[in-house]
Amino acid sequence: MLGVFFLAACANDTPVESPLANFEEVDSAKVVDAPEPQPGRFYPGDRDAIDHGGYLVQLLGCGSCHTNGALDGVPDMNKAMAGSTTGIAYSSPLTDKHPGVVFPPNITPDEETGIGLWTDIEIANAIRAGTSRHGSRRLVTMPWQGYARINDDDIAAIIAYLRSIEPVSNVVPRPVRRGERTRERFVYFGVYQNKIDD
Ligand code: HEC
Repeated sequence: MLGVFFLAACANDTPVESPLANFEEVDSAKVVDAPEPQPGRFYPGDRDAIDHGGYLVQLLGCGSCHTNGALDGVPDMNKAMAGSTTGIAYSSPLTDKHPGVVFPPNITPDEETGIGLWTDIEIANAIRAGTSRHGSRRLVTMPWQGYARINDDDIAAIIAYLRSIEPVSNVVPRPVRRGERTRERFVYFGVYQNKIDD
């Protein structure tokens, strides 16, 4: 009897912890500029194509994920497009105590840490089909669905632009598996749908 009372008392005193208690709102009100092409760089496309590609990259918001600090409101423009050490959760923190997390990679033409050694087709497939370099897996949270209908001229312009910007050496953290704890910062997008019984 005493035990039951004790348990009930404890239950009453225990505050119900919100599953998002460890989350805070981020300031996502920043628009990230696409960096300028570098005059000294080898231009694989003509200048008009590169400028058009820069415009498209700006329009499609690539830098909002692929620039460090952009996801949490303080973009580091010295490392524009060089990847983000703030990750994006790809599973729900409501159900997974530790959600899976990916980090938008470095898409500058750096050969070691960026996409400098990727072929045009590999880059085009990552953007329009959301596939990894060798096609072995689907890129997670990269919004390729919104880019799937980019036409061949526009994708060539985007690639020419990406090859024309300053290569920045920058390594992002490796992906975090679901259930694995990480000490890296990450943000959570609303990507889950509710279940409705028929
Ligand atoms: C909502 C955030 C977001 C936006 C916007 C975004 N990306 Fe990504 N992108 C990612 C993430 C995250 C990955 C890595 C996913 C993974 O590894 O599973 C990725 C992967 C890539 C890759 C593969 C690179 C590699 O090393 O694996 C390329 C290339 C790329 N994105 C280019 C672009 C371009 C170009 C744009 C704009 C047209 C863009 N992304 C917009 C989040 C984003």
